[in-house]
Amino acid sequence: MIQTLEWTDKGVRFIDQTKLPTEETYVTCKDYEQVADAIRNMIVRGAPAIGVAAAMGIALGIKNSKAESGGELKRDFDQICEVMSKTRPTAVNLFWAIRRMREKFEMLRVRPLPQIKQALIEEAQRMHAEDIAANQAMGRFGATLMPASGGVLTHCNAGALATCGYGTALGVIRAAVEQGNRIHVYADETRPFLQGSRLTAWELMKDGIPTTVISDNMAGSIMQQGKIAAIVVGADRVAANGDVANKIGTYSVAVLAKEHGIPFYVAAPLSTIDFAASDGSKIPIEQRNEKEVTHIAGKQMTPDGVQIENPAFDVTPAKYVTAIVTERGIARAPYGTSLAKLAGAESAVVKS
Ligand code: MRU
Repeated sequence: MIQTLEWTDKGVRFIDQTKLPTEETYVTCKDYEQVADAIRNMIVRGAPAIGVAAAMGIALGIKNSKAESGGELKRDFDQICEVMSKTRPTAVNLFWAIRRMREKFEMLRVRPLPQIKQALIEEAQRMHAEDIAANQAMGRFGATLMPASGGVLTHCNAGALATCGYGTALGVIRAAVEQGNRIHVYADETRPFLQGSRLTAWELMKDGIPTTVISDNMAGSIMQQGKIAAIVVGADRVAANGDVANKIGTYSVAVLAKEHGIPFYVAAPLSTIDFAASDGSKIPIEQRNEKEVTHIAGKQMTPDGVQIENPAFDVTPAKYVTAIVTERGIARAPYGTSLAKLAGAESAVVKS
């Protein structure tokens, strides 16, 4: 399995996603500031991977802390969490992970410092293992929605590289392929950062899953030609009503899917659902550096001085979403009740 990120004695080790697909290199972050930079600069990206990376960054920061009392350690803890929370605003898994680490820290505050340090490392490692298990569960549920054969379109990278392993949307595809479905993946290239052509294509090729890369503006035509039986994407944040924030371009794909009568599925763990956001308008959208749009592989593609927009995500209204696959089952509209039920349930398939 691809090791997207892992805890090591030397620090937190990441596959460098800015270098893929041409170079498979790894970076080891030796302090929490380096982990925060790795998240900001997209050495690691994808909502679930960002969450676990932040948890490991917090564990690393606390491990390295020179604090001599509980009070000093708490001051360091707050500082580390503050830095982590400023890295990427849309992926709610980041805030979920910080909250979980904080709850653990508060529970252990009166214990000897070495015990607290060890417990936080173990908590981050537990989150890593749980993420893989959640993806495999999502895969089992989601595979039931996949066609026995045919084209499945995905946008961005919601694969092993966006998680601790197996993937959310690509986990669903993997599980379907493992059970014998003959799926051909169409991967949108995903301008401007090219997660589809660089990362999704790379990991599917490694698994031997037939894959065609298309540029984003080909998706409508490919659907019109009848080549797509289903669409599955991941999410950075799902509002309580089922509105889905995901990589910029997802909304266009969802609208096109509706026009062509193609089911549009979202695969996301419960840690991606933000019950505090009543609808998509409450989700903060990250604006990234203009250079991601003006340059491709270091070469300038736009005239000097032209105005640029670079929102990293868009919001797909729930009415375009056929179903949301979580590790506890499949939610369907109305999502306000089905998602809440899943979050409160141990294991169920909730239908409207
Ligand atoms: O900007 P990125 O590459 O972090 O965006 C990633 C996505 O939009 C993914 O689809 C989402 O995080 C789900 S990953 C399982």
